Amino acid sequence: NLTGVDLRAEIDRLRKERNAVILAHYYQDPQIQDLADFVGDSLDLSKKAAETDADVIAFCGVRFMAETAKILSPEKTVILPDMDAGCSLEDSCPPEQFRRFREENPDHIALTYINCSAEVKALSDIIVTSSSVENILNQLPKDQKIIFAPDRHLGGYFNRVTGRDMLLWPGACIVHEAFSEKELLKLKAEHPDAPVAAHPECPPHILDHADHVGSTSSILSYVLGSPSDKVIVATEANILHQMEKAAPHKTFIGAPGADGNCNCNMCPFMAMNTMEKLYIALRDLEPRIELPEDVRVAAKRSLDRMLDMAS
Ligand code: 13P
Ligand code: SF4
Repeated sequence: NLTGVDLRAEIDRLRKERNAVILAHYYQDPQIQDLADFVGDSLDLSKKAAETDADVIAFCGVRFMAETAKILSPEKTVILPDMDAGCSLEDSCPPEQFRRFREENPDHIALTYINCSAEVKALSDIIVTSSSVENILNQLPKDQKIIFAPDRHLGGYFNRVTGRDMLLWPGACIVHEAFSEKELLKLKAEHPDAPVAAHPECPPHILDHADHVGSTSSILSYVLGSPSDKVIVATEANILHQMEKAAPHKTFIGAPGADGNCNCNMCPFMAMNTMEKLYIALRDLEPRIELPEDVRVAAKRSLDRMLDMAS
């Protein structure tokens, strides 16, 4: 029973005692973002996890992100407040089916979005994030045949941007698929001066109305740099916290779902991490990420390619 426990103070005490670094994604609860040592997008977080000299990485994000930290920093203890914090993209791409898909397309390399399991990373050639994918694609020969998994919307968007014809795995993010085009158009009509910033995990009928498409960190810089004092944001709603902190005089409006409200845009997996669970994880050093060494080494190869190519 944690009633009466000052969770923030206890987390601060344990982080020192354990020599832990707390990394958080922009989709985490604002309270967790505010106490983290570092908040960032998937690429920033991978880099931080590879560089840190802490003994423990407390990863406030979803499981594939914590696995990435363990793959890059195997000597560290990596804890995730809730081991059930998965991702619909990861779920859409079971390793055995992915292996078969690769076997059916032997002349293709596999460029794989970081939102997947360690096993799928191990079966891939190069990992990408939404901030690194365009840069990496530009370094590959124009006639290179490519499989892109698991997000078909993100892959489709970068096919359109780069003129490629990557073969797309049919996965999607449940949060970004929930935005409604009809409601977005209504909102735009109400706020004609507000540009729309969207994540490439959104389907094309949303991206078609966006003034800016990019990763969470790129959306954040676009919004803060925009001369407009009102912006419509089509990605997970917790990122609005950083926007409101950095530009309190501006108005940020979350893009709506089919009911006209923006309550569709919370990631249920990210929301599984709470202050209570973070405190318990730091106290018990559990739940802990453990990976079979052969999977880790193979996954590291494809992640290191990204880190080399994206730098
Ligand atoms: P980025 O933070 O890399 O843009 O990724 C978004 C996301 O959906 C993470 O699950
Ligand atoms: Fe996965 Fe979507 Fe949640 Fe990101 S927002 S973790 S892609 S389910």
